[in-house]
Amino acid sequence: MRTQVGIIGAGPAGLTLAMLLHRDGIDCVVLEARDRTYVENRVRAGLLEQNTVDLMRELGVGERLDREGLEHDGIYLRAYGRNHYIDLAGLTGRHITIYGQQEVIKDLTNALIEKVPIHFEAADVALHDIKSDNPRITYQHDSQAHELTCDAIAGCDGFHGVSRRTIENHITEYDYTYPFGWLGILAEAKPATDELIYAWNERGFALYTMRSQKISRLYLQVPADEDIANWPDDRIWAELGERLGEVNEGNIYEKGITPMRSYVAEPMQHGRLFLAGDSAHIVPPTGAKGLNLAVNDVRLLAPALTELIRGGRTDRADGYTAAALRRVWRAQDFSNYMTRMLHDLGAGPFQQQLQLARLDYIARSEAAAHSLAENYVGLPAEPDFQLPWPRSRTRRASTSSATACSPISSPTAGGVGATPG
Ligand code: APR
Ligand code: PHB
Repeated sequence: MRTQVGIIGAGPAGLTLAMLLHRDGIDCVVLEARDRTYVENRVRAGLLEQNTVDLMRELGVGERLDREGLEHDGIYLRAYGRNHYIDLAGLTGRHITIYGQQEVIKDLTNALIEKVPIHFEAADVALHDIKSDNPRITYQHDSQAHELTCDAIAGCDGFHGVSRRTIENHITEYDYTYPFGWLGILAEAKPATDELIYAWNERGFALYTMRSQKISRLYLQVPADEDIANWPDDRIWAELGERLGEVNEGNIYEKGITPMRSYVAEPMQHGRLFLAGDSAHIVPPTGAKGLNLAVNDVRLLAPALTELIRGGRTDRADGYTAAALRRVWRAQDFSNYMTRMLHDLGAGPFQQQLQLARLDYIARSEAAAHSLAENYVGLPAEPDFQLPWPRSRTRRASTSSATACSPISSPTAGGVGATPG
């Protein structure tokens, strides 16, 4: 079989890329390891930046999002029992929208299913000849062996996928693992707040978010190795009440613990293999950037692939890594900043006072609030590939945890930066 772009993975990156390529008249085939029901019901975060919403509309998949998505004008930062409002819309003129990632996946899959072959339950996916102009993907589907010859391959197969592993000898990895995770729940309960609440608390961070007027989504900071069995529902509600104040309780129908990690692979391209989304980078969820970065990557990748395939022009394809990483590193910095400002870093009273000073600064200074707000809603999409200066890559295989977090932790203070990743 032959196609122009073989896309591995039917997450937000793979499906959005398929939509963009199809719109541009480029053939593609999507190979997904899991079944459709699993992919469409996998619970993840659900905060869309304005750029992401705009692109979904542009692609013709914004109808349900416009109907059911919850547009938000601001967020609260909470400490010592008091909420401080950050007026995102007033400060930036832009919004965020709450709409579950699995709803985005359903909308994209429904829109694509008649247009682009999506092979769910594709097993043993392997990449070959990626340095040639005709890279191949082999896989098993319906108990048969298949081979797909392509002009380019898009590795959109998430953090644990096969694509990045194929080029692991050619990439530099920047990595930091936080010593805590988030316990997340979905509950049948009317949210007790109009806007999201990011709460600093001596007992640890908590986040109040939602999916609808009837469904609340809440998160608690817990140790990275925490066992969910230690968290019966009544303990979860009691702890949420301690950290968030007023919380509406209801039936918890989903709960799980997500580890927190920052990771970047560079470059995001080797030969004719291009990585996009979680396969190339992950961020801690505090800044809610994961899905938005995946969508931004493919916004840049689609025209690069189109030019490469149509006219053999390689400048956009060659510039893909630098263009994508510009936003990725901005998001890494912002996610790290939010995480370190709001979580119990286990680093003692000095670090706590720094956190409170930062929160206080945001409450007092419009410049500080504006900086947070423009990062939170996401900077406008770059019109082209121009960078103010070329990126240079760190010439070593990986960075240490202490380096990754050095801005506000001192190794002697025993903070996150001093904790092995
Ligand atoms: N072969 C085929 N498909 C694979 C393979 C493989 N070997 N390995 C993984 N996949 C599939 C996964 O089953 C998943 O459906 O690739 C898809 C990757 O999707 P995501 O993990 O959602 O990654 P991405 O599309 O980059 O979206 C990033 O998802 O993880 C969240 O918070 C993150 O919101 C962010 C977004
Ligand atoms: C979510 O609604 O799931 C969500 C919102 C904001 C975040 C993370 C997750 O920072």
